[in-house]
Amino acid sequence: MTQEMRSTEEIIGRADINDLEAIMAVYNTDVDEERHVVHSDYDTVFTWDYDKGSRPKLDKLYEKAKKAQWNAQTDLPWETPVDQEALVIANAVANGATFNGEGMDLSGTPLVTWGDKEWIEFGVQSQNWTLSQFMHGEQGALVCTAKIVESVPWIDAKYYASTQVMDEARHVEVFNKYLDEKLSGHYPINSHLRLLLDDIIADSRWDMTYLGMQIMVEGLALAAFGFLHQMTTEPLLKQLLRYVMSDESRHVAFGVLSLQEYYSGLSAAELRERQEFAFEAAVRMRDRFLQQEVWDRMGVDPRVIAPLLLQVPERQMFQSMLFSKIVPNCKKLGLLDAADGWLRTKFTELGVIAFEDLTDTGEEYDTLQATGEAAVAS
Ligand SMILES: [Fe+2]
Ligand SMILES: [Fe+2]
Repeated sequence: MTQEMRSTEEIIGRADINDLEAIMAVYNTDVDEERHVVHSDYDTVFTWDYDKGSRPKLDKLYEKAKKAQWNAQTDLPWETPVDQEALVIANAVANGATFNGEGMDLSGTPLVTWGDKEWIEFGVQSQNWTLSQFMHGEQGALVCTAKIVESVPWIDAKYYASTQVMDEARHVEVFNKYLDEKLSGHYPINSHLRLLLDDIIADSRWDMTYLGMQIMVEGLALAAFGFLHQMTTEPLLKQLLRYVMSDESRHVAFGVLSLQEYYSGLSAAELRERQEFAFEAAVRMRDRFLQQEVWDRMGVDPRVIAPLLLQVPERQMFQSMLFSKIVPNCKKLGLLDAADGWLRTKFTELGVIAFEDLTDTGEEYDTLQATGEAAVAS
């Protein structure tokens, strides 16, 4: 490996991870774009070793996935009515929170003039934004797993990844259907999320697709879906998320199991490159949760409101909670402590290192199977 160790600035484009001006400067300027092309040079790998089950854990996942298929069109109660405005209030009440900024010091901000009407509109737009970003992320997963089918050298992994392609198609489908039929508008992809997907897809090394998608993006999605599932009072969304999550825990387990084997053969310098990639992904994912596009649509300059938001304790908790799966999974892969603990230092700076001792998803998935709990929501 000849690559030089890179500085924070070289990795994420700014020296200070909390530099709000720099975060906000990354903005989607082409919201009407219909197509987005990412170039990638990578090897498509055939294997002549068809020995099914030579990686027993991947084989088990594959067999499980075949039985766990569900149908986005027919397995969910789509007739459930959704009242977005009522939901903003109901969710706040159910979670002991307020929907209208009560208790926040808004003096000196444009929000000081907001009444219930504006806050409810903000809540509605947040729902549209959140589900739109989930949908875009799912398309990223669809594309990445198709690429894994081509590039991974092991037959058991190709088999398994092919089932995940189908899972992700269903996830795109289900979020899009929910947006179209139950919500009130789509948002284009957030720029931080798009940059991350671009980086993952442009990398030619097959294990980087895994690391970026299966470990980082899906690890975050699993935590975010879990949070929303717990928080929402909307029964259709709750059930939809249960179905999606039952697939996602399998996906993250696939990532952990595959990379564990591969990383055990890498040098310290090679692992350091993986650490840098994981760190970059972590920062990009955190940046997107500032919901710049929603503030913009509400006519509020996101740069004015972001510093205030970052100080709200619930927000800080939510942001760090998103890493509750990623950190233990990186630890399991040996990424925290390789190369003199570089990633441990970075995750400490991000304020998420405390999650390192939670159960990793590989183990979690095993336990789930062992206790006979159905992986498919019933
Ligand atoms: Fe998915
Ligand atoms: Fe997934």
